[in-house]
Amino acid sequence: MIIVTGGAGFIGSNFVIDWLAQSDEPVLVLDCLTYAGNLGNLRSIEAHPNFEFVRGDITDRPMLDALLARTQPRAIIHFAAESHVDRSIHGPSAFIRTNIEGSFTLLEATRVWWSALPETRKSSFRFLHVSTDEVYGTLSATDPAFSETTPYAPNSPYAASKAASDHLVRAWHHTYGLPVLTTNCSNNYGPFQFPEKLIPLMIVNALAAKPLPVYGDGRQIRDWLYVGDHCSAVRAVLERGRCGETYNIGGHNEQANIDIVRTVCELLDERRPDPAGPRARLITHVTDRPGHDRRYAIDARKIERELGWHPAETFATGIRRTIDWYLGHADWIADVQSGAYREWIAAQYGQGRSA
Ligand code: NAD
Ligand code: TYD
Repeated sequence: MIIVTGGAGFIGSNFVIDWLAQSDEPVLVLDCLTYAGNLGNLRSIEAHPNFEFVRGDITDRPMLDALLARTQPRAIIHFAAESHVDRSIHGPSAFIRTNIEGSFTLLEATRVWWSALPETRKSSFRFLHVSTDEVYGTLSATDPAFSETTPYAPNSPYAASKAASDHLVRAWHHTYGLPVLTTNCSNNYGPFQFPEKLIPLMIVNALAAKPLPVYGDGRQIRDWLYVGDHCSAVRAVLERGRCGETYNIGGHNEQANIDIVRTVCELLDERRPDPAGPRARLITHVTDRPGHDRRYAIDARKIERELGWHPAETFATGIRRTIDWYLGHADWIADVQSGAYREWIAAQYGQGRSA
């Protein structure tokens, strides 16, 4: 079986749902259910015989030791993290705790358990660390895209904490021989993304006729990848990636934020016209994010060449799927916005439940 940390979040839940649709191998989600963890994301698979959920924190070493001893996984896919740049600016300590201390604790628990395995199981085990392109810092308009050899230059507390975890993962391979893989992916979008990130925030605000806050001039560039393509890339790296290597994952889709917001407005206008007029009227330029990285771009040629991975969605198809998903899941949006999903978690887990 495999363990997926952070599997109740945006990308992790997409990964687990896709996994169970394509594989007979059991999957266990380990997630402590922060504000970003939502069991509602996993509702479609909660009764699946190959699915198990454990509420637990990756900084909890005794819990991790017990979980590894009980489950004997053949791989750990490590998504769990604090993931929002703006939150990291307002309160970096949770990022240091989960992204650095949590990754360290998970690596150590894994190493100690793994060291005692028989040789064949030791060599087939994988620890796959899911990271971000933000570790590479920012690009000018003419710089070449980030490759796997671009020096790390993280600029936000979030990026610095992810960079630190990448370095720990690297060191656990070089020093202890732990069979690790690292992926550095560009901005994801798709179903189940918490409406604090650009695309879902714009969708839910536009549907509610609220202002659409664009930071600064809106000309910052990101590379956008549909979440299902990130998940297929992670599966490819897990099955065929070379231990100790890092793989950049991207969508060949660089766009300025303002253009993304305009596209979201146009598609919503097309699918659900607003009698008050085009939603672009709601675009509001607000104070820029401190230290805002200007441009990210990914050179994904290594994963394409070595593992034969390519994204299945273009931005044109992926954004339509995403908008249709949000339009069809008003209940999910309402639960997230009202906090009802958290009340349910408190009722379900208030008495404590562990590995
Ligand atoms: P998310 O914030 O939606 O989900 C994170 C999940 O981790 C939540 O379910 C949360 O409850 C859980 N979690 C947080 N702290 C934990 C802890 N201490 N113990 C156990 N669980 C904990 O994040 P996401 O957008 O799905 O990102 C997943 C991973 O992918 C992160 O590592 C992130 O850095 C990386 N990534 C994200 C993007 C993106 O665009 N969203 C791009 C590249 C890489
Ligand atoms: P975000 O989704 O937070 O991802 P990241 O900061 O990890 O790239 O933001 C994507 C881009 O959109 C980033 O340049 C900041 C910008 N942005 C806005 O302009 N307005 C917003 O309300 C948000 C959340 C982001």
